[in-house]
Amino acid sequence: MLSPVRWENSRLKLLDQTLLPAEERVLSLSRAEEVAEAIRRLAVRGAPALGVAAAYGVVLGVRDASSVEELAQRFDEAYELLQSTRPTAVNLRWALERQRRLLERDLLRGLPPREIADALLEEAHRIRREDVEANRRLGEHGAELLPPGARVLTHCNAGALATAGYGTALGVVRAAWAQGKLKKVWVDETRPLLQGARLTAWELQKEGIPYEIVVDGAAGALMARGLVDAVITGADRVAANGDVANKIGTYPLAVLAHRHGIPFYAALPTSTIDPEIPHGGAIPIEERDPEEVFTVLGRRVAPQGASARNYAFDVTPHELVTALITEVGVLRPPFADSIPEALSRPEAVYRHGQP
Ligand code: MRU
Repeated sequence: MLSPVRWENSRLKLLDQTLLPAEERVLSLSRAEEVAEAIRRLAVRGAPALGVAAAYGVVLGVRDASSVEELAQRFDEAYELLQSTRPTAVNLRWALERQRRLLERDLLRGLPPREIADALLEEAHRIRREDVEANRRLGEHGAELLPPGARVLTHCNAGALATAGYGTALGVVRAAWAQGKLKKVWVDETRPLLQGARLTAWELQKEGIPYEIVVDGAAGALMARGLVDAVITGADRVAANGDVANKIGTYPLAVLAHRHGIPFYAALPTSTIDPEIPHGGAIPIEERDPEEVFTVLGRRVAPQGASARNYAFDVTPHELVTALITEVGVLRPPFADSIPEALSRPEAVYRHGQP
């Protein structure tokens, strides 16, 4: 199984996603600072994968501490550093908080630093494992929603690369393909960094799942021609009312889907839900370097002196979301009711991060 984030020989191994599909290079990281840097430049990306990488990042930050005081201080430094890398994906904070709770428990138990570092490593392994399991389960739930011969449109990359493995939106695609229900995937190229054309296409091709890449502006024409049965995307954060923050360009897809009577689904583990955020307007939206907009794969296309705005994410209002596909099942509106119910279920990964 394709896994972009794994622990091997006491190091964090990341498949460098900035180089795909041209080159499959694995980074071998031994310091929390290197993990933060890899997250900032999108060598590792996608909300669940960011959570897993951060969970291992704090392990790298603390593991050489010689006293519990030093370990606690190093933990705080690594936490802050990793947390500051990308603001929108809540899985990052969720995983770091999960590690913090474990640390506080073990400090109280009076464990020596070596044992605490080992416990944090075990927890990072668990976060990783649970993410793959959640994706497999949500994939099954999502596949049930699709008609036979489904043509699914997706945006950005919510695949194995964006998670610990299997994927969320592409988890649904994988499950539907395995069941013989899927005809093809429309892959939005996803400017400015082309996660669709580079990463989603690469993943689907490896699995022999039929796809065609389209430019981001093509969705309306495809829908008007009757060529799309469902839109399925991932999510970086879902607010308590069901508003969904995801890669810039997701919101217009939901508007178009509504106009054409096509279901719009967001697929996510419950660790992507932030019940403390009441609505999407309160979700912090990352703004990235305008340079990404001026260039295509490093080659400048805009004139010198041009200006640009580079919001990395947008918010799809819950009224446009047909359902949220999660590991505990398919959540329907009103999300203000179905979300708390889902989060309280013992099998929800969200709960595993709670006190
Ligand atoms: O900027 P990125 O590539 O990290 O954005 C990723 C997305 O928008 C994904 O759709 C989201 O994180 C869900 S990944 C399962």
